[in-house]
Amino acid sequence: MDKIVVEGGRRLEGLVSISGAKNAALPILAAALLTDGTCRFTNVPDLRDIHSIVQLLQSLGARVEQQDDTVVVNAAGLASSEAPYDLVRKMRASILVLGPLLARLQHARVSLPGGCAIGARPINLHLKGLALMGAEIDIQHGYVEARAKRLKGAEIYFDTVSVTGTENLLMAASLAEGETVLRNAAREPEVVALAEVLNLMGARIEGAGTAVIKVRGVDHLNAVEARIIPDRIEAGTFMVAAALTAGDVTLEDCEGEHLGAVCDKLVQAGVHVEQTPGRIRVQGTRSIESLDVRTQTYPGFPTDMQAQFMVLMSIARGQSIITETIFENRFIHVSELKRLGADIVVSGETAVIRGRPSLSGAPVMASDLRASASLVLAGLVAEGVTEVNRVYHLDRGYEHIEAKLQRLGASIWRERV
Ligand code: EPZ
Repeated sequence: MDKIVVEGGRRLEGLVSISGAKNAALPILAAALLTDGTCRFTNVPDLRDIHSIVQLLQSLGARVEQQDDTVVVNAAGLASSEAPYDLVRKMRASILVLGPLLARLQHARVSLPGGCAIGARPINLHLKGLALMGAEIDIQHGYVEARAKRLKGAEIYFDTVSVTGTENLLMAASLAEGETVLRNAAREPEVVALAEVLNLMGARIEGAGTAVIKVRGVDHLNAVEARIIPDRIEAGTFMVAAALTAGDVTLEDCEGEHLGAVCDKLVQAGVHVEQTPGRIRVQGTRSIESLDVRTQTYPGFPTDMQAQFMVLMSIARGQSIITETIFENRFIHVSELKRLGADIVVSGETAVIRGRPSLSGAPVMASDLRASASLVLAGLVAEGVTEVNRVYHLDRGYEHIEAKLQRLGASIWRERV
């Protein structure tokens, strides 16, 4: 296992290029299962999670070739409709093959993803939608099995907004008979990106990006070429890094429109944010103002930026309150941040952070993807050396993060443990 070592106190400045979005690439790669044509995707990030879904597509019988940031998928020769436990347990987003396999092969058997560090992560809403579309759903021996001769369009209401739930049902509905209406659908940019790819394949989807999405099913979907949108959470993470170190960093290949809530909070904290097409410049200041943040579904403040923002508030002037409304256990990073000297008290879904003048470096343990990013951020600003262990969590969602930070002036390197 590797660890990342950071020497704090360096001011970050310069240019950083933002990679393609993990959470857009995952459903879009799964969508390639819906056609027997050859799909070609560019700007695909080089991440563990991408390797996981490529491995899963290949295990189903799809031909997948990866060359730099380009992935080519042909699912003409699907030989299996089963996503096995040993692959799904590596990445819960594997559940995204359920809808496409059922729509394409009339059958799917997918290992239940189980919970993870940040919460129970049920898939009841995915299954409710497929059942409303006529699928027979059976859960046995840790697998969900779904069968349907032909899915039928249905009116589906999401009790809770679900990103991958919306994505799974968008893909299933694209090949269903008749019209499907998804209500209380997720509005994330990654959902919009998937809908755009599906429409390029011949689907007839309207309303993506709003809470009501209409899908008129078609009989066949074609091959597609598409570029993956920029990763707004990677971008937000680097914006916080610039703010933390009172730096001056310009992000390239990013989409400011997807970062409205994050930019708003950074400006409130006293950070200078300047947006130009495809670029965001962030200039930190010596003193960060404390403020309150409540995570919400898009376009609200993203839960995937909560841990990173908590680091910024831990060196802000005054007291901040962060409320996590999406996941029931997404404060695991708090105990590690306290080892670095942060003053944080958690009560239920709320964390109260009292800003301190500085943090102090120490060995810490990563627990999930965004928590591990927050520990690296804390190391950038902590006095002395911080060692972040179990960085395999980080490698799931950040492409070459230490190289990108090094290029911005950070003293950071990876060591094999
Ligand atoms: C997606 O997860 C993202 N992952 C997560 O990013 C992100 O944190 C999350 O959306 C929220 O924005 C991918 O896109 C691959 P949800 P997802 O279904 O779809 C409850 C990262 O760091 N729920 O929107 O699994 C659920 O328990 C990851 O990249 C049900 O109750 O999240 C949660 O409380 C972490 N039943 C809430 O909805 C369901 O059937 C939102 O979950 C589905 C979800």
